[in-house]
Parts: sequence; C-alpha cells; structure tokens
Amino acid sequence: MTENAKTAGQIFDRYLPARLPSPRTASVYAPSNIALSKYWGKRDAELNLPLNSSLSISLGTWGTRTYIAPAQGTIDEVFFNGAVLGLDDPVVRRMLAFVDLFRRAQIIPLRIETTNSIPTAAGLASSASGFAALALAMNETFALDLPKSTLSQLARIGSGSAARSLWHGFVRWDRGDDGDGGDCYGHSLDVDWPDFRIAIISIHIGPKSSSSRDGMNHTVATSPLFDPWPAAAEADCAAIEHAIAEKDFVAVGERAEANALAMHATMMAARPSLSYLLPESWMVLQALWKARAEGLNCYATMDAGPNVKLIFLESQEDDVSRLFPQANVIAPFVDQA
Ligand code: PMV
Repeated sequence: MTENAKTAGQIFDRYLPARLPSPRTASVYAPSNIALSKYWGKRDAELNLPLNSSLSISLGTWGTRTYIAPAQGTIDEVFFNGAVLGLDDPVVRRMLAFVDLFRRAQIIPLRIETTNSIPTAAGLASSASGFAALALAMNETFALDLPKSTLSQLARIGSGSAARSLWHGFVRWDRGDDGDGGDCYGHSLDVDWPDFRIAIISIHIGPKSSSSRDGMNHTVATSPLFDPWPAAAEADCAAIEHAIAEKDFVAVGERAEANALAMHATMMAARPSLSYLLPESWMVLQALWKARAEGLNCYATMDAGPNVKLIFLESQEDDVSRLFPQANVIAPFVDQA
C-alpha cells in the first residue's frame, strides 16, 4: 500500500454520515459490463485499486435488479432470483460484508432481494452488476444522495469491475494515482452508438477453474510476461477511447481483441500456467478469424472464463448469427433497462 492508503472502512466513513437514517424501500438496476480494455492486476488488494485504467460496454437489459427494505425480524433476509439464501452461503457472506461497510456498527436488519436478468446459461459473472446495484440500492435505502462517481468508488471495493456498472453504454474506469482511490472511479463516455452489438457465446464445461481475483493475483505474482502489461493496457484503453469517439469500429475491434489476447498471454506464462480458455473457446476464435479473413467485420474478447464475447455492428448481425447460432446478441444502446 502507498503511504496515504486507507482501509475500506475508512473510505466508507469518509462518505457516509455518522448515523444512518431508518431504511426506506429501494429498487434499483445496474447492467453487467464487458471490458474492451481489461482490468488485470491491482495496486491495492483491499480497495481493488487497479494497475491500469479499463474501458467497458454495459450489457443493457442484462444485469441485476436489487430491492432493499427493512427486514421483518432481527436478522437479514437475502433472496436471489426469488429463492431465500442461507446467511452462511459464500455469495451472501460477500454481499453482507459489503452491506456492513455501509452499516458499520449500526444494527439495521435488511431484506435484500436480488434478481439477475442475465440468463444463467450465459455463464457470465454477475459480481459487476451485483455490487453496482447493491451500492445504488444502499444509497437509495439510506437516502445518502451520493454522486455516481462516489458510488463507483464504493462499488469497486465490492468487486473491481463493478466500478464500471453504474452506467449504460461505454464506461471508462480511471486508474487514478491516489493511494486511497479517491480518483479511481468510472465515468460514462457519453457516446451513443445504436448499431453497436455484443454477442455472448457460452462455453460451459465444469466449474470455473479459479476466480478472477485468484487468477489476477497469481499472474501478477508469477508471470514474467506481466511486467509490460500495465503500460500496454493503459495505451490500449486510450486508443479504444479515441476510436470510440471517432466511431472507428475496426480500430475498436482490433485493439480490444489484441488486449484480451495479451491478458490471456500473461496468464499462460504464469507459473504454474493458468488458462480460462478451453478448446471450445479456441474453436470459436479460429472460426471467427477464418470468417474475418473472408470479410466478416467482427472481433472477440474473453475474460476470466471460457466464454467468448463478440463485438460487431448491426450490419453484420445476420452473418454472425449464421456462423454462431448459439450466440446471444445484445444491442446495448437500443435495449436498456
Ligand atoms: O472485478 P473482477 O474481480 O470480476 O475482475 C474482472 C476481471 C476481468 O473480467 C478479467 C477483466 C475486466 O476488466 O472485467
């Protein structure tokens, strides 16, 4: 940690009133997001401060709706997609640890209902939209009236990529320099690109090998290819931001695909090696590269899992769907919750 680093508790203390008011009901929504220029590596593990800026596209109607109300009894009640969850469930524990950063020493039992609109079959992690929605819901429940830049800082402490899930469209999460992350949050690029499409190709084989948190830490600690990553990723982020402003789709796609493959290369060089990509992921990539050589204007990106995400423009949608009938196509600027 750098000298002025703070604990997560100190960051929440800075932005929250000493005593929270009585909770009121809140219902909020946050979209999931896919990074076109990735967050991979932290400069602070407790505050999830990244080594480089990142840039994402939000997934419109694919996201998390969170409802919060005072609990009926004296303990928290947590529901996920309509089913009650035990308080010792690992997902619930992580959620409540985040909620406790808001409540601090105060005893305020809550009913928290989370509904995920991301098809389970899509196999996407929901931590980004989940923590973003939770931060928005706590803001509403306790009438905190915090700006989104602050909520992004708080959501980031729940899960790094959640810092980008407070907005629709393209979002840039600045790395910042402060040791306490006061300048490390997301903002919307404020660009409308109705033709932009993203498709998810799900590849499901067994449970996930390792969480993004573990994979990131292992790569930073052991990969000889990690050293050049932060500077290269920072440059990718700036180049993609510029290409988006110019609506230069090919430049966005080429840079986003190269960025994702470079991230996976850092993992492959880790010791021992780490690969989230499976043979089926590579088959999709090979089919895509062949189609691209024949004229398809479409690019791929992959995260800490085997699924492949495609980006393309509306003009290519029929061809993409023909080549990959299993793809789930999202129009992030047309369909927004
Ligand atoms: O925020 P986390 O711990 O889910 O990490 C996300 C890491 C990647 O998905 C691989 C990249 C990114 O920027 O979303």
